[in-house]
Amino acid sequence: MEIIRIPKVMRDAAEGYRLRAKSIGFVPTMGALHEGHMSLVRMARAENDIAVASIFVNPLQFGPSEDFSVYPRDLEGDTERLRKAGIDMLFLPEAPLMYPKGFATSVAVEGLSEKLCGAYRPGHFRGVATVVAKLLNITSPRRAYFGQKDFQQTVVIKRMVKDLDMAVEIMVCPTAREEDGLAMSSRNRYLSEAERKAAAVIYRALSETSEAITSGIIEGRILKGLMNGILRSEPLVSVVQYCSVYDPETLDEVALADRACLLAAAVMIGRTRLIDNMHAGPGR
Ligand code: PAJ
Repeated sequence: MEIIRIPKVMRDAAEGYRLRAKSIGFVPTMGALHEGHMSLVRMARAENDIAVASIFVNPLQFGPSEDFSVYPRDLEGDTERLRKAGIDMLFLPEAPLMYPKGFATSVAVEGLSEKLCGAYRPGHFRGVATVVAKLLNITSPRRAYFGQKDFQQTVVIKRMVKDLDMAVEIMVCPTAREEDGLAMSSRNRYLSEAERKAAAVIYRALSETSEAITSGIIEGRILKGLMNGILRSEPLVSVVQYCSVYDPETLDEVALADRACLLAAAVMIGRTRLIDNMHAGPGR
């Protein structure tokens, strides 16, 4: 596995493969890798000639009071895992090379970026879209792999790729979960033992709401109340930022879950913010 730290070197290497008609599968990450990341890596490895991953904790997508400085980092462990999984090139840029002095451009996917998580994390999706646009330009992939875990991120990135005519296929992979259903996340490392147990309530709330839809309860207001009630029944859930039934394309709340829809929630467990989502409804 080749480790590349300089954007221009990465771009030249990717360009070389492209000229030889080798397809690149790309997995962007912020490191502290877990099974969720690795499932993306395996897909990229299986579906392309060359598999590229990146690790970059992107300062642009963290708010001033968020966890950028304490975001978990495990470069040695991550490198080993990626090597074993058969990644060909690992791109490991440093912030000054990604955002040199004078850097002045950003990508704003308007509308979609302000909903759900965007309402609680102003500027977050602008930071995500900007860094993903740069990473896609640098690595020239035929396919780029993202997790459904961050559903809004996939919607924002697909919109950007379409609007900017980028020649990449965005692949969305299912959410990898712990045994009790908790979606794997680098941020789960922040949870105490009691909080970790309590966090299973999120998956329970999504699953029970999905079952309610299957059993014929389709009124959005009632489903939202059900989900909210389950989340709030857990004493260690300190805040429910949002939870409801959404249209998976527009991310607007739906009045009736009478077609494929998305159940999504963001909660604080102690001081840790966790998100999760699930497709539900007919034709899901
Ligand atoms: P990060 O949180 O490291 O996640 C990297 C990729 O792994 C994302 O596409 C995310 O959706 C996916 N992922 C995380 N947990 C997952 C799980 N449990 N199951 C399946 N996939 C999972 O998302 C980011 O980094 C950043 O915003 C990034 C796209 C790298 C831009 O900085």
